[in-house]
Amino acid sequence: MKKLILAVAAVMALASCEKSNEFEISSPNGSMELEVSLDDAGAVFYEVSFNEKELIAPSQLGFEFANAPSLMEGFEVVSADVRPVVQDYTMQWGPNTQIHSEATEMELQLKQVSTGRQWAIVFRVANDGFAFRYLIPEQEQGDLIVSNEHSEFNLVEDPMAHWIPGDWEIYEHVFNHTRVSEIDALSKANHPNLASSHIVENSVSTPLTLVYDDGVHMSLHEAALVNYSDMTLLKTGEHSFKSSLVGRPDGNKATIPTPFKTPWRMAIVGDDATDLLASHWMYDLNEPNQMGDITAWFTPQKYVGIWWEMHMGKSTWDYGLTQDMGTYFDPGQTKSKHGATNENTRRYIDFAAEHGFAGVLVEGWNTGWEHWIGFDDREGVFDFVTEYPDYDLDALQNYAKSKGVTLIMHHETSAAPRTYDQQMDTAYKLMQANDIHLVKSGYVGPLLPKGEYHHGQWMVNHYNNAVLKGYDYQVAVNTHEPIKGTGLERTWPNWVGREGARGQEFNAWSDEGGNPVDHIPTMAFTRFLSGPMDYTPGVFQLETKSGPMGQNRVRSTIGQQFGLYLVIPSPIQMACDLPENYEAHPEWLQFIKDVAVDWERSIPVAGEVGEYVAWARTPKDSDHWYLGAANANEARDLEIALDFLEDGATYEATIYRDGDEAHWETNPYDVVIESVTLTANDLLSVRLASGGGFGAILKKVN
Ligand code: NOJ
Ligand code: CA
Repeated sequence: MKKLILAVAAVMALASCEKSNEFEISSPNGSMELEVSLDDAGAVFYEVSFNEKELIAPSQLGFEFANAPSLMEGFEVVSADVRPVVQDYTMQWGPNTQIHSEATEMELQLKQVSTGRQWAIVFRVANDGFAFRYLIPEQEQGDLIVSNEHSEFNLVEDPMAHWIPGDWEIYEHVFNHTRVSEIDALSKANHPNLASSHIVENSVSTPLTLVYDDGVHMSLHEAALVNYSDMTLLKTGEHSFKSSLVGRPDGNKATIPTPFKTPWRMAIVGDDATDLLASHWMYDLNEPNQMGDITAWFTPQKYVGIWWEMHMGKSTWDYGLTQDMGTYFDPGQTKSKHGATNENTRRYIDFAAEHGFAGVLVEGWNTGWEHWIGFDDREGVFDFVTEYPDYDLDALQNYAKSKGVTLIMHHETSAAPRTYDQQMDTAYKLMQANDIHLVKSGYVGPLLPKGEYHHGQWMVNHYNNAVLKGYDYQVAVNTHEPIKGTGLERTWPNWVGREGARGQEFNAWSDEGGNPVDHIPTMAFTRFLSGPMDYTPGVFQLETKSGPMGQNRVRSTIGQQFGLYLVIPSPIQMACDLPENYEAHPEWLQFIKDVAVDWERSIPVAGEVGEYVAWARTPKDSDHWYLGAANANEARDLEIALDFLEDGATYEATIYRDGDEAHWETNPYDVVIESVTLTANDLLSVRLASGGGFGAILKKVN
């Protein structure tokens, strides 16, 4: 208690109010400062500095409504309450189990003098971030229709930006690296491999990661996106942005009940790239766990599945054999076979049981796939409980369980969410009856109804409801073509996975021939900041030879495929390649079998945005440590100080690294597996090839 009183006193001292219209708060160690002021017109502005460097120049905050006067100016401050926010919380899965966080919060109550209306803006600063959200009190008329939110982010300089367009339909774009002033989102429209895309203006998606010339890193994002639209950042000047919410059929952006709390608008800030990775700021801003302990029916796991073979054109999702990725690229061929058969599923179950994988995902098991992509009339087509004639769900799940394995359910909705909504209870009930507790859902295609978008409020509510309903049936959800992650897995821990970026699948069939070499080291500091990604690592046969030119490939070494299990944050990690490709390399498969997935603590040990990234993680149930890295085009020697290991202890390390001649393009299969003894005093030196990486397992022996 004494500690808390001291903390409050310290914070009050930090909140100064020089003039009556200026209010300032600082983070616990003083590194982050946020100042709020009102101008002569009574408009509200905030500005932020980090270690005395101004990051955000005065930027206006406000709201415009379709059914009420705007909240843009004419305000006076009613009160400014400053308080510390200290939290200690547990995550059931994720990079870190125990989190301690400290921040300073200021709630500014504002009154619009001409209308008498009151509202509030809450600001928070931590040593590694800042955030604000709007609190709109109950209104006489009830709901408010938001025509747009007006949150400005005026940058002081023109930093490098690592961005994808603010697409209203999809996040599966290649990342771009330009100065903020050079962002050109509209040039990314109409990508041939995107089943739906809607880019309306020069805006970008969040997380938007910015790197200043002096090395300061800042990633703009949002936290706790509930009952509202995705915020994109619209370019409004050389290096300034304004919130631009994803729209809907009537041209407005959202209808909010009152009282209402908007999502937090937030930024993670640090001196270098790894500071971004170490932050738990997004989770700090979310509500505590509302579901209690779900570990009785969901624990982090590795899985295999009937999946890559469809993307490689070796089998089809549909029983009618009309939807072959092989014939898609080569219309003459007729070699299709249905993937989700009893026989094939048993083969994968046997493989999973033999090698210790917990789950088997099966796509293409249910009726509807003959009419799922490329059609407008997709409502009522997919059926989430009816099997194709060559698939027996009950028998297969019994078989799986007899071998200590479980099926993972798949619900592709073809972006017809109303059809899914109608069947969700029945579909989840079927899962629960069969003791299946994980579903991968998918939303491929232009969203139905037309005029709504994947990232609009209506769909935000659909995605969130699917997770809440999942909880009622002990179902954990892995959403593909999702709404972006905003940290809600703290509140709803059964939201265990998400795609929301260009995944491994693009290596099979994208027009560019595969994902760029810097894709993972870029996503590590952008997309991965928004939470787990179901990227599906672990390809051993790197030449996929599909795509329009027949020349697609995974642009990495095998060494990087190991590293992905440490670099990609996710409590569910696939080993996505075909069983035969794993069986051809048991010595490599051993790493995927041995790597952990349920972490106690994680340390980002090295990295630069778009260049390379390395993590060290220790699992919940042992003293071992696991290290991994992924590198972009330029080969480099990495030196990792092992001072996080237990002092005085000895570790036997098995390192799966790039060989000296490895190169993603010319020699990707050059792998060295070696054993060394390491202690906390050692430096681990590893060479990362071009497009390379490594994975290492450090077992504590005494
Ligand atoms: C897109 C998903 O990302 C992919 O993993 C899945 O196989 C297809 N949709 C079919 O649902
Ligand atoms: Ca996808």
